[in-house]
Amino acid sequence: VSTHVEATDLAEIRRREFPITDSWLYFDTATYGPHPRRYVQAISEIAEQLSIQPLGTTSAGVEGVRSAAAQLLGAPAVNVALLRSTGEGTNLVTGGLDWRAGDDVILYELDFPSLVAPWLALGEHGVNVAVVADRGRHRFEVEDVERLLSPRTRAISVSLVNNLTGFRAPVEALAELCRARGLWFTVDAVQAIGSVLVDVPALQADVVSAHGYKFQMSGFGYALAFLSDRAIDTLGVPHVGTSNLQPGEGRKLFESGLELYPNARRFEPSVPNLPAILAMRASLELLLEAGMAQIDAHNRGLCQRLGEGLLHTGHDVVTSQRPGESAGIVCAVKPGVDQESIREQLAGRGIICAVRGGQLRFAPHLFNTLDEVEQVIASLP
Ligand SMILES: Cc1ncc(COP(=O)(O)O)c(C=O)c1O
Repeated sequence: VSTHVEATDLAEIRRREFPITDSWLYFDTATYGPHPRRYVQAISEIAEQLSIQPLGTTSAGVEGVRSAAAQLLGAPAVNVALLRSTGEGTNLVTGGLDWRAGDDVILYELDFPSLVAPWLALGEHGVNVAVVADRGRHRFEVEDVERLLSPRTRAISVSLVNNLTGFRAPVEALAELCRARGLWFTVDAVQAIGSVLVDVPALQADVVSAHGYKFQMSGFGYALAFLSDRAIDTLGVPHVGTSNLQPGEGRKLFESGLELYPNARRFEPSVPNLPAILAMRASLELLLEAGMAQIDAHNRGLCQRLGEGLLHTGHDVVTSQRPGESAGIVCAVKPGVDQESIREQLAGRGIICAVRGGQLRFAPHLFNTLDEVEQVIASLP
């Protein structure tokens, strides 16, 4: 997806950009991705400039962020919106269509609240939620979804990579199913974008969204979102303000009426938090410089070795080991042991991971090394 031919050496990036590695073995990017140095520099410089210079025009800067985002997603910039959260992407669909009593949506039991809640909120309009049961599998198949289809199914909504298990959903097959029936399809990609190579348009979803603060390492409050042409053309715009209107010199709004941008910008109503959004570009460009192909191979390699080490030390690996069903997260359980006590023990050695859904979760990123993975394995109970 990245257009950069020569990828920058990851060891060099680690040295230059990630002071967190001086103090920690940080394996928790699925919770929060540390700010690279250049992000900190950018946000400080922009804030400084705003304190000493007139504001000037800001739209070129924001469009620069959009084009970096578009490059990372492999999508045309006109299909990229800079939203406020992952869940806002889902909310564009739940809030932007004419839902009717008796409509159905299909979700997966283990998905994150910000994906599930917008659909549950449609309950007051009589929309039914059909749930793919996990049944202890830590994965599901297209057939599980097919079984739940009804003549009233209007949407399917899943995460690309699950935050509790690391399962990579069969999104392409689900998209086929949606296309064949004209269903709406939304994908929460926050546990994938920035960590593994994702050709976002190839997922063929209507909305793919991912908050910046995890694997994009680009701070809080902004999410990259891909919107299909159908989404742009069809979805209602929930918040109309000054920024999603096409500029018109001397236009009299009362006479001209609303002319929203004919692209994904129509979902951005106002001036963004400039230091945060402009600094986001620094982190996105770091990912592009390193190259998503290199990052993908690196992160998957670390996960594979972690998985081996976990198995070897008597942990049950929860993340699916079937081809294509994992990405950059490994989850595991040591039977008969309080997982929280393992996390604390590791933290005592400077190793940061998470416990989610009763499972240990390791989420490495480009700044982690195989040597660190060996240290983690050597520290496992
Ligand atoms: C799978 C998943 N989706 C979404 C989010 C965050 O959602 P939002 O950006 O809507 O706050 C998280 C955060 O942990 C997550 O793990």
